[in-house]
Amino acid sequence: MQRSLFLFGLACLVGSHGGWAAAAPGTSPPIPILRSSGEGPKPDGSYNWSFETANGIKSEEEGRLKPGSEPGETIASVRGSYSYQADDGTPVEISYTADENGFRPQGAAIPQPPEIPPAILRALEWIAHHPEEDNL
Ligand SMILES: *[C@@H]1O[C@H](CO)[C@@H](O)[C@H](O)[C@H]1NC(C)=O
Repeated sequence: MQRSLFLFGLACLVGSHGGWAAAAPGTSPPIPILRSSGEGPKPDGSYNWSFETANGIKSEEEGRLKPGSEPGETIASVRGSYSYQADDGTPVEISYTADENGFRPQGAAIPQPPEIPPAILRALEWIAHHPEEDNL
C-alpha cells in the first residue's frame, strides 16, 4: 500500500510538471516520459491529465466540481487510474474515485477484508436491533 501511495505521489508530481521523473542522487538514471497531456484547471474547476513513462507506469485522472447538498457548496469529484509492474512482474492496475464519500480505490492489488463469519453477523444484527441494552 505504501508503494502505491508513493507511486501515486510520483504520478501527481510527474503529471503536473511533465518532463523527466526525478531520481534521487546515486540511484538509477531518470526515466523518460513517453506521453504527457492534460487540460485545466478550467474556469469551472474541471481538469484532466495523463502520462506514460518508459518503465511502464501509466496514470490518468480527471476531476470536476459538482454541486453539494448545501446552497453554494461545491464538491471535488475525481476519477482516475494508474498502472505499473510490481517488482515480481505482476501487473498492477488501480482505478479510483474520490468525492464526498472519500477515496475509493479498486483493483486486484487492493487487499480485501476477510468475510465476516455468520455468527458475528447475527450478533451485530441483534445488537443493532436492541440499542436500549447498550445503556448499562
Ligand atoms: C481532456 O479532456 C479533453 C476534452 O474532453 C480531451 O479532448 C482530452 O483528450 C483529455 N485529455 C486527457 C489527458 O484526458
